[in-house]
Amino acid sequence: MLIRNERKDVKYVMFTREQIAARTRELGAELSKKYAGKTPLMICVLRGAAFFFTDLCREMNTLMEIDFIACSSYFGNTKSTGTVQLVKDSTVDMSGRDVVIVEDIIDSGLTLDYLVKIFKTRNPASVTTVTLLDKDVDKPNRFHVDYYGFKIPDEFVVGYGLDYADYYRNLPYIGVLKEECYK
Ligand code: IMP
Ligand code: MG
Repeated sequence: MLIRNERKDVKYVMFTREQIAARTRELGAELSKKYAGKTPLMICVLRGAAFFFTDLCREMNTLMEIDFIACSSYFGNTKSTGTVQLVKDSTVDMSGRDVVIVEDIIDSGLTLDYLVKIFKTRNPASVTTVTLLDKDVDKPNRFHVDYYGFKIPDEFVVGYGLDYADYYRNLPYIGVLKEECYK
């Protein structure tokens, strides 16, 4: 098997770990204010949002409950297949809860749209969506996400949880891979 140095596969860094941490702190402060006196149910969309989720939750000072779900729509490609599947559901009763879905990135919006529709049928008090990255270029009628960390151009990014074919999630920053990595 070819052993590669994943850091040498990165063409450029889009956001450093310091930039991510600073923005996450701001989002955590906003959410702490929004949920002051409440106990939100924080839902992490595995696996991409795992790093952002744990950092964001630690930047919030409200009581909270956390749970993890998993969706799949990419199957190892860089473009969505258009079909979303909930491959691991939450076991927490959502009725009357303030549910906060935390995602790594929104692109077509299909994943968040699908999740919000499903969770709204469970009689929550509210459903709010948070994503670290938002690829919103030229998508005027897309699902509206409530909170985002950064808007990014239409480039495929990896690191800080985001993967290409399940690799690169552990990069401590968000970057763009060299073209040869997709071959
Ligand atoms: P959407 O359903 O098209 O909004 O896609 C959202 C999901 O696609 C995210 O949760 C990611 O798993 C994946 N995704 C979209 N863009 C990227 C990217 O640039 N890098 C890695 N994963 C991505
Ligand atoms: Mg994801």
